[in-house]
Amino acid sequence: MSTLLHIDSSPRSASASSRLATTFVNRWKKQNPSGTVIHHNTTNEQVPFVDEPALAVLYGGLAPATDDQKHILALSEQFIEEFLAADVLVLGVPMWNFGIPASLKAWIDLVSRPGRTFKYVEGGGVAPLVPAGKKAVVFLSSGGAYQPGTPYETYNQVDPYLRTIFAFFAIVDVTFVRIENQNRSGVAPAEGLAVAEAQLAALLA
Ligand SMILES: Cc1cc2nc3c(=O)[nH]c(=O)nc-3n(C[C@H](O)[C@H](O)[C@H](O)COP(=O)(O)O)c2cc1C
Repeated sequence: MSTLLHIDSSPRSASASSRLATTFVNRWKKQNPSGTVIHHNTTNEQVPFVDEPALAVLYGGLAPATDDQKHILALSEQFIEEFLAADVLVLGVPMWNFGIPASLKAWIDLVSRPGRTFKYVEGGGVAPLVPAGKKAVVFLSSGGAYQPGTPYETYNQVDPYLRTIFAFFAIVDVTFVRIENQNRSGVAPAEGLAVAEAQLAALLA
């Protein structure tokens, strides 16, 4: 039985990234009727940030003493179990100030833990503790356009960062579907959506 972990991070009810990610997930469900889908919206769920007392339990291995420490450790454990169990990761990501929303980064900070999803190795360096073979599909929505070869290509910090963190977890089968020009004067957002929808349809054809 396959498991799909769907993580949205836009708070907008009209979110393009959530809409396309959800379309993908619904099609996947039709193709995998006995599959399991787990869904979170990191912004709406207000995934907490890691402060010093949280670091002590998440990275320092200290037993949680306060309610806040118990809460963040339980959440981190839940997110890690969901992440480790998933065969497919589907991310809906709005580009915010050229990067990912802080709440998605907060989710990653709770998933990325020594002894749980990666380990330190002798002589320096790190190694993933994540089962091989996971796939990731990212639906990235942006106001502008960041196509390779254009002057704005390097402004896009979402692809490089997510590819890096996925590679850190040994996830190399990563597909980006870009939903571009969602707030650009003179360019109809529908065009960017249509390009992304065509790419999405090809992914599960
Ligand atoms: C806080 C904020 C920051 C944004 N920063 C950027 C940006 O750096 N580059 C860009 O092209 N669009 C930017 N946008 C526009 C969004 O990426 C665009 O509206 C996108 O469609 C949002 O995704 P969603 O429809 O899934 O919510 C920003 C929007 C917001 C609300």
